[in-house]
Amino acid sequence: MSYFIVFAGKGGTGKSTLAALTVRYLKEKGLSPILAVDADPNFCLPELLKIPSFETLAEVREKALQDKREGISLDDWLELEINRIIEESEGFDLLVMGRPEGSGCYCAINNILKRILQDLSKNYRYIVVDNEAGMEHISRGIVNKIDLLFVVGTQAKSSIEAALRINELIKQLDINGKKGKFSEGKKILLINQATDLIEKPEKLNIEFEKVLYVNFDENVRKMSEKGESIFSLPSDSPVIERFFKLLEEEIG
Ligand SMILES: Nc1ncnc2c1ncn2[C@@H]1O[C@H](COP(=O)(O)OP(=O)(O)OP(=O)(O)O)[C@@H](O)[C@H]1O
Ligand SMILES: [Mg+2]
Repeated sequence: MSYFIVFAGKGGTGKSTLAALTVRYLKEKGLSPILAVDADPNFCLPELLKIPSFETLAEVREKALQDKREGISLDDWLELEINRIIEESEGFDLLVMGRPEGSGCYCAINNILKRILQDLSKNYRYIVVDNEAGMEHISRGIVNKIDLLFVVGTQAKSSIEAALRINELIKQLDINGKKGKFSEGKKILLINQATDLIEKPEKLNIEFEKVLYVNFDENVRKMSEKGESIFSLPSDSPVIERFFKLLEEEIG
């Protein structure tokens, strides 16, 4: 069974950046096999992880619906295809969910991803999941095993409030097989892009196992502006020093 590291939180807080950094950390530590999953229809892990060409789960499903084959169910066909679309890179693999064409509903593709993740967890030591902003994926239980959950926020009050709402939702879900307990997973509130240390509202320490900070890093801003990958970040960048140390403490 894989160790699942999952990122959730309000839009633009840094979920994808930190998910990509986690992949870099695991890769550098040689903790393979590693699977990165971009579960955001508006994917950006391929760019951050420097994977130039890839096919998404949504595209494969669309194709399967169009040229439906006799004698094989859609599910079975997708299962066969899935191995083909997992991009193998140096030290990690990538799976991109993508978005259904037109105004199609996301339920089908979400359900496929949910099933596939359960299957894939036999093959990988670590699975890192980058979610879209908000609570959709969490409420749908796409990932129902979470070993380490990072709820990412910023210093903005609205972002901390969003993190608390996500936390309330998680309490009601059946994650790790135990409803309302989240007992076997670690739940960390990560305040990213911090410019100074804010006073933590008392409630945060009660609701989360830990509240940790990652500073605003000028190198990340430059990387993002140029559309460069996470591997281009110098190792002595403040965000790397800080976040890798934090991962070391949490994962080892
Ligand atoms: N520690 C940091 N220092 C400086 N800039 C950062 C930091 N973390 C993230 N950013 C920048 O903030 C922006 C948003 O980051 P990112 O795309 O990772 O957020 P997100 O939560 O995944 O957003 P979305 O909800 O749209 O998926 C990016 O331009 C990124 O480079
Ligand atoms: Mg993102």
